Amino acid sequence: MRQTIVAGNWKMNASKEEVSTLVMGILSGMSEVESKVIVCSPFPYLSQVEALTTHSQLHLGAQTVSIHPSGAHTGEVSVDMIKDFGADYVIVGHSERRSMYGETDQDVANKVKTVVDSGLTALFCIGETLEEREAGETEAVVARQIQVVIDTCGIDAFRNIIIAYEPIWAIGTGVTASPQQAQDTHASIRALLATNDENIAQSTPILYGGSMNPSNAAELIACEDIDGGLIGGASLKAEDFLQICKAG
Ligand code: 13P
Repeated sequence: MRQTIVAGNWKMNASKEEVSTLVMGILSGMSEVESKVIVCSPFPYLSQVEALTTHSQLHLGAQTVSIHPSGAHTGEVSVDMIKDFGADYVIVGHSERRSMYGETDQDVANKVKTVVDSGLTALFCIGETLEEREAGETEAVVARQIQVVIDTCGIDAFRNIIIAYEPIWAIGTGVTASPQQAQDTHASIRALLATNDENIAQSTPILYGGSMNPSNAAELIACEDIDGGLIGGASLKAEDFLQICKAG
């Protein structure tokens, strides 16, 4: 039985004051939540969120990482720096990083390897564009994205990987994949993992992301192969985020 996981991706949002209000708001409702809950903060606020969440049920994550351990990489943040602030998770391969910052499938796989080798867990994002979905290429696109990670990291790495299926056309658009569309893709992802290792296929969490909100979360998470959500906009309001957490 896979535990439901709900992760908030704050993206490049919030201020010190907003982080404090948001985290305190989430913490105030956590006693009613059974899902594992992760918040992925911008780098500057990791320390603040760490301080607010120590000894709580709330887990901390970052939103990207450098593949380099240290040195002359101006502006980059290493996995050891992220660990230093008590984060256990790193989002890797978000479509915004792929499309706006030129991260290729291989770059993403290298980052997943960096995260997993360091002992942290990668929240590994995959998903197709609208054109790809309309051309019937969804399964092939996500299979290609996953295969590069398998080739680079090995199938055992998936013991420390949470997959997030985020159809690009559903991110920040208010258009959500239907439960059937999402379930079909999640099942195809699990089937691909099963061709490599049945146990890993059954144990790997596969989250859905893309305009998930309090009114559609329960129906999505109820699907057999949907193990939770990666939430953008709705993770910035404690009340909405908590409702999604409780839907799991
Ligand atoms: P929205 O929930 O705002 O659509 O964003 C989803 C997402 O990109 C999470 O990583």
